[in-house]
Amino acid sequence: MNSFEKYRLPHVVFGLNTAAQAGEKLKAMGGTKCLVVTDSGVIRAGLVAPILESLDKAGLPYVIYDGVLPNPPDYTCLEAAEKLKSEHCDCTLAIGGGSSIDTAKAANLIADLPGEIGSLHDYGGTGTKMKPSYGRTAKFVAIPTTAGTGAEVTVSAVIYDPKLNLKYSFMNENMVADCVIIDPMLTVGMPPRPTAVCGLDALCHALEVVVGARQNDFSALLAFDCVERIWKWLPVAFREPGNLEARSQMAYAANMAESAGGAANGHCVGHAIGARYNIVHGHSCIMVMPTLIRHHAEVSADNIRRLADIMGVPSVGSAQEVAWYVADAVLRYYKSFGLDTCRDAIRKNGFEDDEETFVQNLIPAILDDYKSRVWMPPIHRSEDRERLEAVCRSIYEEE
Ligand SMILES: [Fe+2]
Repeated sequence: MNSFEKYRLPHVVFGLNTAAQAGEKLKAMGGTKCLVVTDSGVIRAGLVAPILESLDKAGLPYVIYDGVLPNPPDYTCLEAAEKLKSEHCDCTLAIGGGSSIDTAKAANLIADLPGEIGSLHDYGGTGTKMKPSYGRTAKFVAIPTTAGTGAEVTVSAVIYDPKLNLKYSFMNENMVADCVIIDPMLTVGMPPRPTAVCGLDALCHALEVVVGARQNDFSALLAFDCVERIWKWLPVAFREPGNLEARSQMAYAANMAESAGGAANGHCVGHAIGARYNIVHGHSCIMVMPTLIRHHAEVSADNIRRLADIMGVPSVGSAQEVAWYVADAVLRYYKSFGLDTCRDAIRKNGFEDDEETFVQNLIPAILDDYKSRVWMPPIHRSEDRERLEAVCRSIYEEE
């Protein structure tokens, strides 16, 4: 049996209309003034006001930071941290997608970092400044409004550095929320395309847990169940936005896929593509999956056969053959939501990069992400350069 490390999980409240419990949960933790971290789109969608009412009802004063941006840039996390301190808040409530939750997670930690921060990148996965002993004093409740990122249970925030033009993981176990409220009702208004992109991100999380060298019995227990739910229910949520069972299944699976732990190995490439070519997270990650599955054909052979059974493709044959069947099923699946393969998506975003430029652009950003170190066979050492290039070429050539 493989050894593993399972990070701390938050208190979870799951169910339709549970978001109204936010005020009482924060109050029960001893909060006396709250920083609400969200973005203007979530406010405009009308999702924040009813939750703020619950804070009023609980007698909990609050201030709002609504400067969250997609792919949270480092400066927004610093701004939110500054507001947390200057407003003397002792608790934080994140309301939104992964960007709002990651911004809040980072801000909570930044607010307590000792000394001059300088560049946040120095605290990233390949930096040297983050210490496991760093913690946060603010109590923290997170309410996701999408079903995908699972950011409410992860130990890292994905930060964008505009100067370096790359995304990196700002990671510390103490970021994890004290309480997470998953209310599928908040996702009902999501249009089909964001529904698909977020759901595919959750699918990536589940796939990456079982396709790779670091899978373990606990993570597999949750991850296969998540793949099964997402494979069945994402097309329903996509076609029928008001289907509450589909929304509930997706909200549950998105949370559990990240609660499963494991290493999101494909995300190092997804982040690199997303940052360089301005492609939304779930889309840039899912386009990596077919290549990831073929790359891990031998090391994850048994798990890939289980995936084949779930996806309804042949699970007999050599490990390589089955990996190709599963990779192809994933490719057809994400294209069924109208999403482009890598090259088409890049072109549509106005980039003319040929294959060689694509490969050379990606490699430094992939290697900057510590998750590139858990691919098997390895891709991160200098002697693996050919293998890493093959991974990038395979993604670019996918049709
Ligand atoms: Fe993700």
